[in-house]
Amino acid sequence: MVPLILLGLLLCLSLTSASPTTNSHISDTTHYPLPNEGHAVAHDPSILRYNNSLYHFRGGVHIPIFRAASLSGPWENIGTVLDGNSTVQKQNQRRPWAPMVTQWRDRVYCFYSISQNGKRNSAIGVASSESPEPGDWTDHGALINTGAGNGSDVYPYNVSNAIDPGFLADPDTGKPYLQYGSYWEGIFQVPLADDLLSVENATHPDADHLVALPNTKPKPIEGGFMSYRDPYYYTWFSHGQCCHFNTEGFPKKGNEYSIRVGRSTSVHGPFVDRDNKTLIDGGGSVVYGSSHGQVYAPGGQGILPGANDEPDVLYYHYHNASIGFAQGDARLGWNYLDYVGGWPVVRYAHPNLLSGSPIRDPAR
Ligand SMILES: *[C@@H]1O[C@H](CO)[C@@H](O)[C@H](O)[C@H]1NC(C)=O
Ligand SMILES: *[C@@H]1O[C@H](CO)[C@@H](O)[C@H](O)[C@H]1NC(C)=O
Ligand SMILES: *[C@@H]1O[C@H](CO)[C@@H](O)[C@H](O)[C@H]1NC(C)=O
Ligand SMILES: *[C@@H]1O[C@H](CO)[C@@H](O)[C@H](O)[C@H]1NC(C)=O
Ligand SMILES: *[C@@H]1O[C@H](CO)[C@@H](O)[C@H](O)[C@H]1NC(C)=O
Ligand SMILES: *[C@@H]1O[C@H](CO)[C@@H](O)[C@H](O)[C@H]1NC(C)=O
Ligand SMILES: *[C@@H]1O[C@H](CO)[C@@H](O)[C@H](O)[C@H]1NC(C)=O
Repeated sequence: MVPLILLGLLLCLSLTSASPTTNSHISDTTHYPLPNEGHAVAHDPSILRYNNSLYHFRGGVHIPIFRAASLSGPWENIGTVLDGNSTVQKQNQRRPWAPMVTQWRDRVYCFYSISQNGKRNSAIGVASSESPEPGDWTDHGALINTGAGNGSDVYPYNVSNAIDPGFLADPDTGKPYLQYGSYWEGIFQVPLADDLLSVENATHPDADHLVALPNTKPKPIEGGFMSYRDPYYYTWFSHGQCCHFNTEGFPKKGNEYSIRVGRSTSVHGPFVDRDNKTLIDGGGSVVYGSSHGQVYAPGGQGILPGANDEPDVLYYHYHNASIGFAQGDARLGWNYLDYVGGWPVVRYAHPNLLSGSPIRDPAR
């Protein structure tokens, strides 16, 4: 009898500790402010301001496009970038990942990833259009192949994974750059040709190595994105386990996605974090991470430059513990950014709600 009672008690206890309301795997720090809710399903969002509207692109069948008047929605699904499968002849070409959309001269470009979980046989493709609206997009196919395909033997494509495109036109020179990479040797940057449809030099890409984790395995760094605010270039990336929490379980606290950054006065780097550690030596300062026992694994981030005297916005996807941890549960979140001593800091509240200087989390 006694052992049975004990067993029952243990079972009870273990059920209690596994209950979804405890969320023991989520940091309860209040060091970071809560997200402003985008009220949209999101994974690796890319947001473009165009013609007084906001356009949100994310991974999904043929790359869905959403439009809203404000970052908090409501977002209207207005169509897709691609009319059908990507012309990149690799697996999963129906459902590109992690698009990056940008305006360049008088066209709009959508870089996207064709890949498969855990595989390096990937490509970055590009489509372009006169506007971000659906209906007029042309798919130009791959500009970087890794694992297999044209050019995949060229360094750094032979040591990297061609997913998670980022784009920056250097405000100093006007030169366009593509950032990409995930796991393996990390995140690289290559100069693009002037029409953005190919890497400037196909056989000698003149790559910059932006982010790496030299002495660990695995190397969970991805989602590279570069932004600029005088006088610094910022390399952003996501560090940790991105997803599959519902199938693979929760990693040790702190090993899930967080949003990290380093800065440099050169577009080519080296980028260093707040401790002056270079990002290619495992550096990276956390700007936004899990918090409040509720916000989990923020990442896949981008920066929307401020317009009309508004501050820059950091946007990303995250899991809300009350909603869930499956891939389709991730939501769009965003916060205004402050720069303190040249380092980006996430603001606590909308500046319109504030008088004067930004209020930060009291615990900071
Ligand atoms: C800009 O938006 C207006 C409506 O708000 C629309 O009539 C116009 O066609 C749009 N222009 C472009 C270039 O998309
Ligand atoms: C589109 O791609 C998917 C794989 O993602 C494939 O199963 C399907 O046959 C393709 N459709 C066409 C029309 O090629
Ligand atoms: C391979 O890439 C080179 C350089 O970008 C290009 O000139 C060539 O047409 C490509 N070949 C194929 C088969 O795509
Ligand atoms: C990648 O290419 C570079 C330059 O050709 C070469 O030195 C290096 O050994 C290659 N690495 C791998 C893993 O093939
Ligand atoms: C690419 O770079 C190599 C090495 O610097 C150079 O020899 C070659 O001419 C370049 N090709 C083009 C098309 O610029
Ligand atoms: C950061 O590191 C660089 C290169 O190692 C060094 O020149 C510089 O003095 C360091 N700066 C600080 C603030 O430690
Ligand atoms: C989390 O979800 C709950 C329930 O939908 C909602 O009330 C709350 O505002 C959400 N919080 C965040 C930060 O998304």
